[in-house]
Amino acid sequence: MRRTVDGVTLGYDLEGRGEPLLFLHGFPLHRGMWRPQVAALRDRFQVLTVDLRGFGESSVSDEVTLAQLAADVVALMADLGIARATVVGLSMGGYVAFRLLEQAPTFATRLVLADTRAEPDTDEGRARRLALAARVAQEGREAMRDFVASLVGPTTRARRPEVVATVEALAAAADPRALVATLHALAARPDSRPLLSRITVPTLVIVGAEDTITPPETARAMADAIPHSRLVVLPEAGHLSNLETPEAFTAALRTFLETTAG
Ligand code: MLT
Repeated sequence: MRRTVDGVTLGYDLEGRGEPLLFLHGFPLHRGMWRPQVAALRDRFQVLTVDLRGFGESSVSDEVTLAQLAADVVALMADLGIARATVVGLSMGGYVAFRLLEQAPTFATRLVLADTRAEPDTDEGRARRLALAARVAQEGREAMRDFVASLVGPTTRARRPEVVATVEALAAAADPRALVATLHALAARPDSRPLLSRITVPTLVIVGAEDTITPPETARAMADAIPHSRLVVLPEAGHLSNLETPEAFTAALRTFLETTAG
């Protein structure tokens, strides 16, 4: 489905009935990355997946910030009449969730931060990202090949060719203009660490044991800084833990949802 709010068209899906769960995808993918979790959870929850601006069926802008991506989601939720939800963000989806917490402090009833980090890019990381943006601007999506390959862990690469194919297909849908704009937004993202101690809702931090982009030690430090949090490390998963080990990811999510009040 698509809906235009404040001049921005956003792709989204709303399935099932019950307490709302809002899923925010990683870069450079789209809402289709949540297919395993949607299928598993729509019998008990109202599951919402949104394409962040630039991705999937959403409109593309030449310049964006993570705050704008969050504002788009806040506006869409208001338009859909969804006042509160459990927010699940993977990687860039987690960065957006931090901005959403700032903009709509009462929206999230619970928080799931998967394969993400609160720190901004290091100077070196920022320079690498901006260099990648420049290459994508010149060469197109093909320049993303190594980045996309780094999203999955070695176990997936060796044993789950179908997951690698899914990730490549999800990434192949990205518009090069959106890739450039979003790489700039990721490079410019603020430090979210000051927010962590102020998160009052139950929080689950999930990370793939083989995640090299937002590794387990980063996830552990983030979980330690959030008052009501628990950490789950998923064996044999890389950065896209929800796609690489979908059953384990969904099981961790389900346990969290069943044992905390939203
Ligand atoms: C993502 O998965 O959203 C990206 O890897 C985030 C990042 O590169 O920082």
